[in-house]
Amino acid sequence: MPDALPGLFLGQSDAAQPENLLFNRANRHGVVAGATGTGKTVTLQIMAQGFSDAGVPVFCADVKGDLSGISQVGAPNEKLIARAAEMGLTLTPRAAPTVFWDLYGQKGHPIRTTVSEIGPVLMARMLNLNEVQEGVLTVVFHVADKEGLLLLDLDDLRSLLVYVGENAERIGREVGNVAPASIAAIQRALLQVEQQGGDAFFGEPALKLEDMIRVGLDGRGQVNVLDSTRLMNSPRLYAAFLLWLLSELFEQLPEVGDPEKPRLVFFFDEAHLLFNDAPRALLEKVEQVVRLIRSKGVGVYFVTQNPADIPDSVLAQLGNRIQHALRAYTPSEQKGLKAASQSFRANAAFDTAEAIQALGVGEALVSVLDEKGAPTIVARTKIRPPASRLGPATDTERAAVMAASPVRGLYEQVLNRESAAEILANRHSAADQAEIQAQVQAKAQAEADKAAAAQAKADQKAAEARAKAQAQAEARAAREAAKPARRSTRETPVEALTKSVLRTAGSTLTRELMRGLLGGLKRR
Ligand SMILES: Nc1ncnc2c1ncn2[C@@H]1O[C@H](COP(=O)(O)OP(=O)(O)O)[C@@H](O)[C@H]1O
Ligand SMILES: [Mg+2]
Repeated sequence: MPDALPGLFLGQSDAAQPENLLFNRANRHGVVAGATGTGKTVTLQIMAQGFSDAGVPVFCADVKGDLSGISQVGAPNEKLIARAAEMGLTLTPRAAPTVFWDLYGQKGHPIRTTVSEIGPVLMARMLNLNEVQEGVLTVVFHVADKEGLLLLDLDDLRSLLVYVGENAERIGREVGNVAPASIAAIQRALLQVEQQGGDAFFGEPALKLEDMIRVGLDGRGQVNVLDSTRLMNSPRLYAAFLLWLLSELFEQLPEVGDPEKPRLVFFFDEAHLLFNDAPRALLEKVEQVVRLIRSKGVGVYFVTQNPADIPDSVLAQLGNRIQHALRAYTPSEQKGLKAASQSFRANAAFDTAEAIQALGVGEALVSVLDEKGAPTIVARTKIRPPASRLGPATDTERAAVMAASPVRGLYEQVLNRESAAEILANRHSAADQAEIQAQVQAKAQAEADKAAAAQAKADQKAAEARAKAQAQAEARAAREAAKPARRSTRETPVEALTKSVLRTAGSTLTRELMRGLLGGLKRR
């Protein structure tokens, strides 16, 4: 098995040395950067397949559709075979064990989570809320958590927003202020996300991480490819989704320290979308998650055009670096180049900044962490060609991969169990019914009183005392008759509420909800 190798073969340096990414340093994160067309996606492809070969499951987003070729046996042309031979590599064409995912459920298995699980922080980011609106959303989640209302899909969230709006005064007293204008703004933002098809992402069955972190019987790690061709049109949804996945991994996986090889490697393509106009507080949390997830055995690799797209505090944690060619025409490009070159441990043989500009396609400057955890001297490296196909899989091939997938059928059918929307609707109708019955009762009572009074008046002259006593008795009888009925209608909504909360409690919310670093649900 290739996992006997100490590292993942990235390519060969111009000093004719193999450049290996050490598996036991792979959880120290990394970055793959470079201008468009310089070889980032292919590098991602050879890394994903290399990890898979070593028994490490991988998650990556396929932004343009070309990464899907990893699911197909490569058909290297002479040039590729020669390129491989140059680095002492015999290309054995083979596909990686791929599972396609798609938030929209079209080009992969659907991938969902619940609103409760994603939490207020990432939901606010997805909805592009301002600080005040985010505060209101936090109150809304708090109410749901406290009252045991499950938020599965966007319908649930909408119902809860209405409920919070209607009870703004009480909730304002008990939990926190909720301005109607903010509720309205959140409702509008929700509508927008829905119009972009984002509602498909919310609901059940929610993704189980075990279905991603799989190793096949042949010892190879599953390569999870998230088709993001459509998702890229909703960059905020894309960023929030990947952050959610990262935070789930963080919250759910146990500590392992520094393992022999990662438990999972997570590639974050178009990483600038994650950081673009993200609020400070969120950036700090992302930085924290990236730092801490290492000890859970997860390696995070950011793929982006320019390392300057990544905040310094995050960049500083990315130990394994692969820098493809950069242009440096505009001032901002020059700044990016400077940042990129300064981050490397210099090689006496060449000037780093010059080398970055002179790199050919499929070449990169590489520096990885050595056994001691120190960065190696930067080396000009020809990246190896992939064993899987260079270029996209066809729709037919994709369908065949999906039909043979180990997760086939697990997520296709949407579940809709009772959650906030239904509970609140029931509560509403129960309350309405109670009100109607109370009115009917009051009317009957009034009529009975009136009749009794008329009766009393008519009989007054004949037998005043007796008639009066009788009328009182009748009235009392009428009231007694009305009483039990009235009491039971008053109890109905309470009963309904208790029942629904109990049902909910029986399904998931067995104890008070705890939220993790990025606001997602904690399970331990
Ligand atoms: N390691 C490599 N081996 C062989 N060819 C490569 C390699 N890297 C890049 N190429 C060639 O360059 C093209 C563009 O690379 P790609 O990874 O798609 O660039 P980017 O993702 O940076 O836009 C590929 O389609 C392929 O033909
Ligand atoms: Mg690309």
